[in-house]
Parts: sequence; C-alpha cells; structure tokens
Amino acid sequence: MRVSIREPRPSDVEAHRSAVLRSVEHLSPWNPVEPDVLPDLLRRQGAGLRTFLVIDDEDGGIVGKCNVANIVMARFRNGALGYDSYVPYNGTGRMTEGLLQVVDRCFIPEADGGLGLHRLEISAQPDNERSIAMAKRLGFRHEGFSPRMLFINDAWRDHERFALTAEEWPGL
Ligand SMILES: CC(C)(COP(=O)(O)OP(=O)(O)OC[C@H]1O[C@@H](n2cnc3c(N)ncnc32)[C@H](O)[C@@H]1OP(=O)(O)O)[C@@H](O)C(=O)NCCC(=O)NCCS
Repeated sequence: MRVSIREPRPSDVEAHRSAVLRSVEHLSPWNPVEPDVLPDLLRRQGAGLRTFLVIDDEDGGIVGKCNVANIVMARFRNGALGYDSYVPYNGTGRMTEGLLQVVDRCFIPEADGGLGLHRLEISAQPDNERSIAMAKRLGFRHEGFSPRMLFINDAWRDHERFALTAEEWPGL
C-alpha cells in the first residue's frame, strides 16, 4: 500500500481546499465541488457520519476523501460510501488502496477500533464509469437502479446501486 487513511483534522482544511481547487474539472461532472466543506464535515462527525482522508505515504498529500454517511446501527449496521480522488493522485491506483482500507475499517468490530458495520452501499450515476469501476474493483455487487435518487449539480440524478456485506469481505 502506498497510502494510509486517517480522520481529518482542522490542520487539513487548507490542504484539502487546495486539493479540491486543483481537481475542479475532475470532480465537477459527478459531485459538487466544495473546497470549503471540511470545517462543516469536522463539525458533523459522529454516530451517523465518519470521514476519512486518504494520505500519500511518500509526500503526505491528500489523495482523496471518503465519507461513510447515513450510518444506521441497530439491526441495520449500514453505511453509504461517497468518495472523491484529487489531482495529481487520481488514476494512479492510490484511491483504490485507500478505499480498501476504509472498507476494512468499516467492517472491523467496534471493540477492535472499527465501525462495526455489516453492510456498505455505493451509489453512482450510470455514466460515471470510474466510480462504477471503483465499486466493482472493491468487490461490491450490483443491486439495482434507482431513478432520481440524489440531487447533484442542480438535478435529481439516477443512480446504480452497489452493496457489500461483511460476509463477502475477505479482509486486507
Ligand atoms: C471515482 C473516483 C474516486 C475514482 O478514483 P481514481 O482516482 O480513478 O482511483 P484509482 O486511481 O485508484 O483508480 C484506479 C485506476 O487507476 C489505474 N491505475 C493506474 N496505476 C495503477 C496502479 N499502480 N495500481 C492500480 N491501479 C492503477 C487502474 O487501472 C484504474 O484505471 P481504470 O479505472 O481505468 O481501470 C474518481 O474518478 C473521482 O474522484 N471522480 C470524480 C468524483 C466522483 O465521481 N466520485 C464518486 C461519485 S459516486
């Protein structure tokens, strides 16, 4: 692995902002471009939302960001993964390495420092080939198609839905 994952800190705000601003063309067709979102995300961390940064081990740069959102415990133990990679690390395989670590952390029991989830979802717009390739590379199963599922870039967008349960995860 060439990357590590960790939770974001207030000292990441500027580096994250620069990473997003460098990546506007890469992100904007698929996700909102939010260079100033990190302080808000830091405030919202809790039982329902956990954010991870993927950090390059060699130069310490921010490779990407992954939100584990809509976390519901009890009988569901489910979370939704959302992710962005940033220039210049996109397309180098580093984001895949980071997300493998995020998935692993999600399935590790809480007693062992993980999130203790049982099921993870990924939803991607049908034409978002890179995100769909990522979901498949991580081992997620295609579960279905949901019309007008998420409001992104001023419109309700259809999404392909993928999921993975702990039983299917071989571990790192
Ligand atoms: C979706 C997204 C996160 C995928 O991230 P990424 O930067 O492409 O991730 P990776 O670099 O790990 O992807 C691996 C790709 O790098 C290639 N690669 C290059 N060098 C590699 C290496 N040394 N090891 C492994 N893979 C390598 C792989 O072949 C693969 O290419 P392919 O998809 O053409 O087969 C990214 O494209 C993105 O941020 N898109 C915009 C926002 C977005 O769509 N978010 C998701 C919304 S649902």
